[in-house]
Amino acid sequence: MDAPRPADPCVLVIFGGTGDLTRRKLLPALLNLAEARLLADRFAVLAVSSHDLSDAAYRAEMDRSVREHAAGPIEDAAWEGLLGNLHHLQGDLQDPATYRAVADRLRELDAAHETGGNALFYLAVPPSLFVPILQRLGEAGLLAERDGWRRVVIEKPFGRDSASAVALNAAIREVLAETQVFRIDHYLGKETVQNLLVFRFANGIFEPIWNRRYVDHVQITVAEELGVERRGRYYEEAGALRDMVPNHLFQLLSITAMEPPISFEADAVNDEKVKILKAIPPLAPEEVFQHAVRGQYGPGAIDGKPAPGYRQEPDVAPDSPTPTFVALKLGIDNWRWAGVPFYLRTGKRLPRRVTEIAIEFKRAPFELFRGTSVERLRANLLVVRIQPDEGIALRFGAKVPGPEVRLGNVQMEFCYADYFGTEPATGYETLLYDCMTGDRTLFQRADMVEVAWSILTPVLDGWEALPPRDFPDYAAGSWGPPEADELMARDGRKWRMWEPKA
Ligand code: BG6
Repeated sequence: MDAPRPADPCVLVIFGGTGDLTRRKLLPALLNLAEARLLADRFAVLAVSSHDLSDAAYRAEMDRSVREHAAGPIEDAAWEGLLGNLHHLQGDLQDPATYRAVADRLRELDAAHETGGNALFYLAVPPSLFVPILQRLGEAGLLAERDGWRRVVIEKPFGRDSASAVALNAAIREVLAETQVFRIDHYLGKETVQNLLVFRFANGIFEPIWNRRYVDHVQITVAEELGVERRGRYYEEAGALRDMVPNHLFQLLSITAMEPPISFEADAVNDEKVKILKAIPPLAPEEVFQHAVRGQYGPGAIDGKPAPGYRQEPDVAPDSPTPTFVALKLGIDNWRWAGVPFYLRTGKRLPRRVTEIAIEFKRAPFELFRGTSVERLRANLLVVRIQPDEGIALRFGAKVPGPEVRLGNVQMEFCYADYFGTEPATGYETLLYDCMTGDRTLFQRADMVEVAWSILTPVLDGWEALPPRDFPDYAAGSWGPPEADELMARDGRKWRMWEPKA
């Protein structure tokens, strides 16, 4: 196989150039790309922030940060090469003068590094700055594609409900063509998420059983051990539903449920994802409290260590109504999935970090082994482990050796690490590379974001109309509130508990 080509030459302009995202994710990801020889030689970074830093001071600070956050040993030559191409510009992101200065620096860097007029603007800033930055970039003429390409990367959260997402997309359309926009969802940067597409569509044996005839239900879990850490201010505004569901969980759901695309071109893939989301009927107001559960963690313990409750975290109101857990039951009204429930749950301060998609199949049509000495056989289950222990497992029944017929449940395992080893990665490498090569397959399109919010807006409205009275309702270190179990129990089902690897 040919080695992938390096990305296009360009200047990467990062608004929020001294922020957490830049230090923890973007620069370590650029370093990994440089080590893999996937960055163009003709490349530079212009970090824009409100801090008064010379290029040299900025480099020294980023050197410290990247050494702290790099996941593996640093290849000195690659890092020093990259470090020498980092530049800093001080400016107020609301002030048009900043953008005139950006234009000047961009011209200089473009000439010095021969980047052919290509510029990638990365909005690593709070969402309140998205529109002002886009407007200023537009006014300064920085988004016009004269010689090279001009592209903009927008981080989540992408709106906070249907109306704000539609307004943000409209503001984007004022200054950019859709092909210039890269709405990032870092879950799509995860190898295991991308592999789900390959698993489904590059193998002949799974697709025929991937439907209502064989699948009983699907459970998607994104559980975190971490609490809100130092992000209380953001999280109080967002809460678990906005933070995780319209983006990460819906991406997992749409890749699990979508029809095979006609090609792997960005629009062909995104068309199918949008079709799946459009087939999810939004909950009627009377269904919201039946099919959507919210929860908030109180004090408890994780790994035997005491953990504070959400209301005791920094920047969180002592009577906060913000949910830190959400469980949803959704349906997909199309030929393939009619009648198959999709259960989604995500929460902070759960007992362990696990992101997985579990597809439970229907049982064998009749119990041939009835009346023999048989353990209760469980349904076949296919588990796609997104993280950690990345891999895929298939559970099925087998005969326990011995003279009498006894059945047990066994598991077949594929682990990434066994086949491919593990490379230190932030999840941003592929996504940044794709921005620099212009591949939008792994990015969210405007219509996808809008339909995701339209599914969730009734839940947000219902919850807002009836503030929770029983928060906190789960202890840190437990699997969420009892209502989440009741949601499943009503359907005669249970959430999957994490099982140790066989
Ligand atoms: C982010 C959320 O998008 O994803 C965080 O804002 C969450 O609240 C994080 O912790 C989870 O990402 P990962 O890659 O650790 O699963």
